[in-house]
Parts: sequence; structure tokens; C-alpha cells
Amino acid sequence: MLRKKAILLGDERPVEHRMARTLSWPHLVALGVGAIVGTGILTLTGVGADRAGPAVLISFAVAGLICACAALAYAELSTMMPAAGSAYTYSYAVLGEIFAWVIGWSLILEYSLVVSAVAVGWSGYAAPLLDAWLGIPMALMQGPQLGGIVNLPAIFIIAVVTGLLMIGTRESATVNAVLVVVKIATLALFVAVALPHFDGANLDPFMPFGFGKTMDADGVERGVMAAAAIIFFAFYGFDAISTAAEETKNPERNLPIGIIGSMLICTLIYMIVAAAAVGAISFTIFADSPEPLALILRELGQPGIATIIAAAAVIALPTVLLAFLYGQSRIFLVMARDGFLPQSLARISSRGAPVRITIVTAVLVSIIAGVFPIDEIAALANAGTLIAFAAVGLCMLILRKRAPDMLRPFRTPGALLVGLIGILGCAYLFWSLPSKTQLYFLTWNAVGLAVYFVYGMRKSLAK
Ligand code: ALA
Repeated sequence: MLRKKAILLGDERPVEHRMARTLSWPHLVALGVGAIVGTGILTLTGVGADRAGPAVLISFAVAGLICACAALAYAELSTMMPAAGSAYTYSYAVLGEIFAWVIGWSLILEYSLVVSAVAVGWSGYAAPLLDAWLGIPMALMQGPQLGGIVNLPAIFIIAVVTGLLMIGTRESATVNAVLVVVKIATLALFVAVALPHFDGANLDPFMPFGFGKTMDADGVERGVMAAAAIIFFAFYGFDAISTAAEETKNPERNLPIGIIGSMLICTLIYMIVAAAAVGAISFTIFADSPEPLALILRELGQPGIATIIAAAAVIALPTVLLAFLYGQSRIFLVMARDGFLPQSLARISSRGAPVRITIVTAVLVSIIAGVFPIDEIAALANAGTLIAFAAVGLCMLILRKRAPDMLRPFRTPGALLVGLIGILGCAYLFWSLPSKTQLYFLTWNAVGLAVYFVYGMRKSLAK
């Protein structure tokens, strides 16, 4: 259970298995921002405001700080071990097999549920447009918990992205760069219109639900940290950059710039957008809206710009879906390559795409997106990610102690402090998640461990 895996680095592989090193740091920053900016800022800002009030600004700062620490740990490990599989691979090399299993199993949950959550977020912006333009009734565009029957647009967009992946499409760098510009321009437009309406009165009371997680009379857990545990969703995706490690030129310089640079850019953008949102109107108006930024603009008497923002969200959000559905199949493949999961599910089609696992995943995430509300899905995705981030921080600290002289192309400054803030911060965020989410997550991993003992442990190819 504690056996560890030696990592084969890109340049130690036989020549025919090496990937061409073509990416530099601007590509990596674009890749990062492409995977990071999505439903978190566009939709969960409303959920966060519902949980924390205007103090959702502090929630953004707390989640951003914890993610920045995790990003530094990722930067150190991904330059030491530039191999596919990110947190799963690092845990296998440093902590041992059973930990790697738990992390891999959690990453499968994370990547799958991000797809469901972003699809629901996409639907939140697409539904009013589809209703106005095609007359599709709202009951067919929302899950049962919001008074609808099924969220058809969410299922539709998952089907489209799955189709793209099955014909072997990898997001092209050019398309990604264009859509990154669309996303940033959308958020800039929102800020340009909303910020002039900033009124300090909207920030009063600033922290109506307190700091730590507490249960409200309506049965919802609120507080700055409860919001941070949800808002955390907005920040991840930078780990996508570490998956490009084997294709990066001069990775010791470019990977840390890409990972930390995209994190810093996103945190800055989020703080400005969130300040513009809570300052423009009372948070009670857009809290829990499926399309908060568009709603705010309509309230400010700008329905035309609201439609532009909604249309831009509809165009740009699928990049996040593509990145995470793709990432899910990669994690699955790496685990199957280690013997942990059935090879038959991981089979690659003649077009070079893992068709079976992509279809199985798509069906499952469609069912979830069709019926569950976005905050519950995002919270569970966060649980998986928090465990992975904490593990990466732990791996960094253990390796510093166990192998102090190992070559570290990028050394995290103040590693002990950064590692501890990362690990303890993730633990605190996990504790601040809704209790129901924690229970679901533990159940998922209990099932996972059962699969490990019955299947994974015996089939593992590690020697
Ligand atoms: N950070 C990504 C988003 O906000 C997952 O959609």
C-alpha cells in the first residue's frame, strides 16, 4: 500500500515518446486563464454573496491566498517531475500507493463535477436567451430543485463538448487565446458599466453572516468561510498548466511563470469584478441568481449590455468544459496505465481519443447537471480539489526533508510557510464546506477504497 513509483521524466523517455517542446510562458498563461476563468466568477459570485453578503470580497481573498500557496507547491513539483497526472503522480512518487489512489479517485470526482457545474453555469446564461429567442420554456432549462423538470441546455452543451473530444479535438492554442480574450473583455465590460454605480451603502452591513461557518434559520450554512469554500471553485484550473509540462520549453522558468502568473491575474480580475458587483446593487437582489452579472446589468438599466455579457459567457465557457473533460480522461488513463482501473475502459480509439471513458463520464455528468443545483455540485467538486491541493503541499514539504539536494528548477520561497498555509488552508476550507457535501465526499472515498482493496491493489503494476 505504501509502495512508491519512480517517475520517468520527459527527457528520459525514448526519443519517439518525447513530446516536442513548443510552449513558452505566454502560451501557458493563456492555457491557465482559459481553464480558470469560468463559472466561478460568472455564476458562483451570486452564491458567494448569498452566503457571505458583501464580505464575499474577503472570501475571494482567502480562497485566492490558499490557491496561491497551492500554485507555488504545484510549480515546484511540476518542474521536478514534469510528468502527466499532476497531484496523483506526485503522491504516488512521494506518499505511496494508497494515498495516490485516494488523490486519483478525488481528482476523478473533481474533474467530472467541474464539467457538470460549468454546464449548469452555462445553462444559467444560455436559458434566458433560448427562452427569448426560441421560446423554450424555463421548466426545461432548470433542475427540479429550482422548480424546473430537467436542465436540458446543460445536457446539450456536455453532449457537444463530448462530441468534440471524441473526434479527437484538442483545444487549439489559437481558439483558446481568442476565447481568453473574449472572457477578459466580457469581465472588463461588466466592470466598466457597473463600477461607476459603486455606492458604499450597498456594502453596509459588510459581514451580515459572520466569518466562520454557521447554520442559518433557513438551513443554509453561511459566513465568509462558507462562501470561500464555494468560491474556491473559481480559482482552480491552473493545475491544467502542469499537464503541459512535457511540452514546455525551458520548463524551470516558464512553468512557474505560467502557473503563478495566471493565478495572480485571475485573483486580481476576480477582486475587481466582485467589488463592482457588490458595490453596484444590494447583494440580496442577485444572490443565488443563475446569471448574476447579467441580472446586475439589467437592474442598472443596461439590458443590451446584459445580453452581450450573457452571449459572451455562452461562447467562452465551453473552453473550461473542454479542459476538464479532457483532464478527466487523462487522469483516468494515467491510473489505468498503472493498472488501477480497467484497461478496456481506457482504450484509445483509432482517432486517438479515449472514447469509452469519455462517453461514460459524459453520461454520468449529464445526469448530475440535469437535476442538481450548481452550488451543491461545485461544493463537491471543491472537496476533491482541496484534498489534491493539500496533498501537493504535503508532497513538497516531505520532499524538502527527504531529498533536500534533489534538483529543484523552481524553489518555492518560504516553502515551509507556504506549504503549511496551503495544507491548513485547504483543511479549513474543507471544514467550511456544507456538512452534506463532506458526507457525500467521504462516501465517495469509502467506495473508492473498497474498489482499491478489491481491485486496484491486486492489479497495480507498480513493483
Ligand atoms: N475555475 C473554473 C471555473 O470557474 C473551474 O469555471
